[in-house]
This record gives sequence, C-alpha cells and structure tokens, in this order.
Amino acid sequence: MPRAGILGTGAALPEKVITNADMEKLVDTSDEWITTRTGIKERRQAGPHETTSQLSIQAARKALEMAGVSPTDLDLIICSTISPDMPLPSTSAFIQRGLGAPACCAFDLAAACSGFLFGMTVAEQFILTGKAKYVLVVGAELLSRYIDYSDRSTCVIFGDGVAAGVLGPATPPSGILAAEMHTEGAFADHLYIPAGGTRKPASCETVRAREHYIKMRGNELFKVAVRSLEEVSRRVLDKAQVSAQQIDLFIPHQANQRITDAVRERLGVSAEKVYSNIARVGNTSSASIPICLDECVRSGRLKKGDLVLMAAFGAGVTWGGILMRW
Ligand SMILES: CC(C)(COP(=O)(O)OP(=O)(O)OC[C@H]1O[C@@H](n2cnc3c(N)ncnc32)[C@H](O)[C@@H]1OP(=O)(O)O)[C@@H](O)C(=O)NCCC(=O)NCCS
Repeated sequence: MPRAGILGTGAALPEKVITNADMEKLVDTSDEWITTRTGIKERRQAGPHETTSQLSIQAARKALEMAGVSPTDLDLIICSTISPDMPLPSTSAFIQRGLGAPACCAFDLAAACSGFLFGMTVAEQFILTGKAKYVLVVGAELLSRYIDYSDRSTCVIFGDGVAAGVLGPATPPSGILAAEMHTEGAFADHLYIPAGGTRKPASCETVRAREHYIKMRGNELFKVAVRSLEEVSRRVLDKAQVSAQQIDLFIPHQANQRITDAVRERLGVSAEKVYSNIARVGNTSSASIPICLDECVRSGRLKKGDLVLMAAFGAGVTWGGILMRW
C-alpha cells in the first residue's frame, strides 16, 4: 500500500514572551496557580504588525527547505486556523502568494486545536489518490487577538504560534499508519467566540459586551478532552495493531499538563515517551502539535523509524489522532 508522510517541518513563534509574572499584573492570578493547574510558565504574543499569514510563510519556508521541496512543486496548501488574517479571503491564499507557489488549490480549515491533524488527514487523501504529490499543511494561530486579558480563566492559557509540515509520498514502512477525525457539535458552547460571525455580526454593542473574545467552560472541557484523547489514541493504535507500549513518542495537543498526564496514565505510556512544551508556549491551538513535532525533529528526539502517536482535541468539539512511522 502506498503511504503519505511528513517530509519536512518548520515553526515560527513571535518573539514577545508573556510570563506568568506578566499575567499577575493583568489579572488576579499567580505563577503558582497557573503552574500547578496548567503547567504553563510563559507563552508568546504576536506584535501588532505580525499576521497569521506572515508567520505561516516563515514556518512554511523552513518546512519546504527541510523537505527539499520547492514552493513551485506544491499542489495543495491547507491552512488550519481559527484566527485568520481576515474573514475573506482565506489565509491560505496569502500563504500561496507569499511563498510564490503556483496557482494551486489552497484553502483554510477550521477545526480549532485538532486542525493540524485534520489537515494532515485531508492531505493524506489527496496524496493517496494521486490528486496531489506535495501538500503544505500549516497550523497557524494568533489567538491573542481573541483573548480577553481581563478573563483569568482563558488569558493565562493561550499563546500564539505557527508550524507547518510538508506532506508527500512516503516509502513504507515510513508514513501515516492510521488516522481518525471526529466532531461533536453538542459541546459547541463549551468553547466559542459569540460575535463577529453571521449569527451576531460585529456592532458597537458586541464590542462593548466583549463578545469578540473566547469564552470557555474549562472544567467541562477538561473531562471531555481526557476522554476523547484517550479514546482516539486507542482507536488509531487498534487500527494499526500497535500497542501503546510500542510507540516511541506521544505528542498530545498541549492544552493542559494535567490533561496530558491523565491521558498518558490511562494509555499506559511511560512519561519519558511524552513530549511537552506547554511550559514554554502554552496552548497554541492548531499550531500546538506541529510546533512539538518540529522541535522533536530538529532536536533529534524523533528519529527515522520511530512510531509517533499524535492526538488532539479542540473547540467544536473536535478530536483526532494520527499514528505514523517516521
Ligand atoms: C481552564 C482550566 C485550567 C481551569 O482549571 P480548573 O482546575 O478546572 O479550575 P476551575 O475552572 O474549576 O476553577 C477553580 C477556581 O480557580 C479560579 N481560577 C480560574 N482561573 C484562574 C487563574 N488564572 N488564576 C487563579 N485562579 C483561577 C476559578 O475562578 C475558580 O475559583 P472559585 O473556586 O473561587 O470559583 C482547566 O479547566 C482546563 O485546562 N480545562 C481545559 C481547557 C482546554 O483544554 N481548553 C482548550 C481546548 S483545546
């Protein structure tokens, strides 16, 4: 069976660091609370002139370079984002233009924190059917633009960041072994931005009511996240007939260190096989998994032949998993 795999990765983080001490100056919180309840010590914040597409282009260039693929070879660009440059056109159109890629197919995908894995799964279908050879998948979020810095339950968690992967044909045994995507709209009101869409267009009133900011029911989400991440991990492992103990690296979405620890324990994966960078970058939504992936690839933590399990969970709610051999 032919397979699709990741040929190169790249990441781009804004330079500005917001520490927990900075958060203490904004809201009634403490480094101790944030660290023990989430595992986060600092996160990045984009400057006023940085955009989702600019950082995406930086990350994409690094991924293309590692893959040895020219932008002119791209058949498809998928940008996973819930914080696009503009409502119209798609951020992927700006990425295509900025990279100097040909007029290939390019579109955005909105699956929140699960978006990069959804994008990878879509890319895999295009590659396996021969519709595309090289696909750029970007996970890009500038969530700071939607954060209410007077709401302590959300502002301490999220950070900005972008990362990309270039997917293409892989030679077995390397490549994607199993993938799953799920959405359950019954939990749509657990994490959302009330205004700015067709349901509640922007108005002076929506701005005054702070309805353009992220609202989150963190406690309820926590339980759904642990359950979904465990379930989807088991499903992809079962599909590929691999045991949790056989995997070399587990990259869960970086939502909360306590979620990661709970899922790891339930799966029976040993702590040293789990990658976590939440202390340094916080929750970067759809950029979370590809940033981890890029750090693991560039540091040598992920080596050729390794079995890597990735599992994500996000607003929608959405959840997904991918098992691949590097
Ligand atoms: C958001 C989250 C960190 C909150 O942690 P928690 O342990 O569940 O905390 P709770 O929401 O139960 O709040 C407990 C108390 O801490 C307070 N609190 C919330 N944020 C705080 C902060 N930054 N600093 C200090 N206290 C805070 C609450 O007001 C509450 O106080 P009360 O008991 O006086 O009402 C946690 O629920 C979480 O990570 N959920 C999942 C979120 C997620 O995954 N979201 C994205 C999906 S991709």
